[in-house]
Amino acid sequence: MSFIVEVKSLSYTYEDGTAALREVDFELEAGKTVALLGANGSGKTTFALHLNGILRATSGTVSVDGLEMNDRNLREIRRRVGLVFQDSDNQLFMPTVLEDVAFGPLASGASPGDAAEKAHTALAKVGMGHKAGKAPWHLSAGEKKRVAIAGILAGDPRLLVLDEPTTFLDPPGQRGLADLLDSLPQAKLLITHDVPFARRLTGEAVFFQEGRIAAKTSIAAIVQEFGW
Ligand SMILES: Nc1ncnc2c1ncn2[C@@H]1O[C@H](COP(=O)(O)OP(=O)(O)OP(=O)(O)O)[C@@H](O)[C@H]1O
Ligand SMILES: [Mg+2]
Repeated sequence: MSFIVEVKSLSYTYEDGTAALREVDFELEAGKTVALLGANGSGKTTFALHLNGILRATSGTVSVDGLEMNDRNLREIRRRVGLVFQDSDNQLFMPTVLEDVAFGPLASGASPGDAAEKAHTALAKVGMGHKAGKAPWHLSAGEKKRVAIAGILAGDPRLLVLDEPTTFLDPPGQRGLADLLDSLPQAKLLITHDVPFARRLTGEAVFFQEGRIAAKTSIAAIVQEFGW
């Protein structure tokens, strides 16, 4: 069986001593989608940030698409993992929306023309084609979120890690995102407090509790067992 994500006994302690992850074991098969549920502060974002090496394990191991997380593999792992940040302001940094979305393809060696084409296609998918020339910091919160998602799609990653992707999206935008994600073949790790949204995309979930995975089961079972 091939795993797109393989995490073994991952622990992470922040500099101030907060033990945010405690011996987490996690596997995701290629092409599968799983929801990461759990209370505020339970470690979901901390976990996500390990999947593209923004945070590096205090102990334990992380492998993505068969590559172990280390300095040598970091660049390639980042190419294969598309992480949509919980806060879009951490994601958008170029002068225009188009340049922002084209950044990933350019960084992976696409020609400027190809990168722009990929960016236009991705922006159209999230309904932001008409904002291509705008400054990202002049967008509304929901528009920023859509552009951040387009930026990930433009890079055509093998794994999508989406940290609260529906925050700020209006109801049609949420439905559109669910349909869009559902149509993509990539493996997806979906961090969300929006259970109906998660259910549109998968029946499977893990439940984080105080830095540990307390359950790996169906969304329905988590709703029942943890009153989620
Ligand atoms: N930079 C940081 N320095 C110190 N502690 C941090 C830092 N970031 C997060 N934490 C702590 O680590 C724990 C896990 O936080 P994390 O952001 O991973 O939670 P989460 O499950 O994503 O929560 P939410 O649902 O609110 O997004 C919390 O106790 C949090 O206070
Ligand atoms: Mg979080």
